[in-house]
Amino acid sequence: MASPEIHDARKGDAPSIARLSRRLVEAGLTPAWTEQRIERCRQREDSRVLVVRHGSQVIASVIVDFEDSAAHLGLLVVDGVWQRRGLGRQLLEAAERLARAAGLPRMVLEVRDGNAGGRAFYQSHGYQETGVVARYYGPTENAIRLARELKDVAFNHS
Ligand SMILES: CC(C)(COP(=O)(O)OP(=O)(O)OC[C@H]1O[C@@H](n2cnc3c(N)ncnc32)[C@H](O)[C@@H]1OP(=O)(O)O)[C@@H](O)C(=O)NCCC(=O)NCCS
Repeated sequence: MASPEIHDARKGDAPSIARLSRRLVEAGLTPAWTEQRIERCRQREDSRVLVVRHGSQVIASVIVDFEDSAAHLGLLVVDGVWQRRGLGRQLLEAAERLARAAGLPRMVLEVRDGNAGGRAFYQSHGYQETGVVARYYGPTENAIRLARELKDVAFNHS
């Protein structure tokens, strides 16, 4: 997909983003990405919530938090029929540029350990698996933590 327009989420986008997360990221889990939490992220200065739309519909989103020594990618989701067209990569790169612009040298994230597609996606983008976080998603599900140093990411454009 050629250069999608990536925008900050608007008031009213949180329910759509929460639905994408429940269906594609958090299936079978107690949802952590509630509408309320997403809306709080949208309003906080140390978070950004970005979206891609098709018409009026949100088809992809990324949420990044700026922490003390690293940025944390909280959520990245692309709706089913839009997957494998480069949207995930472009949203990830947008989040990395924001992290660099905030002066942060590293991006960290967690992925469900059974999410082979997600793990392959991040690895194809230079992320390395740095460990397992036991029971991160509840009593029965671990996370794989991944990280990438951002020193080579250009940050002088959005
Ligand atoms: C993982 C996800 C964000 C990737 O976004 P996407 O737009 O589909 O991915 P892209 O088109 O940008 O893929 C870029 C590259 O990543 C790799 N990749 C992406 N999805 C992959 C998959 N399911 N399996 C293996 N490799 C994959 C490929 O190398 C791909 O390049 P190619 O299509 O030329 O082979 C998206 O598929 C998604 O939302 N999945 C469900 C939710 C999820 O798993 N989120 C991430 C973990 S929280």
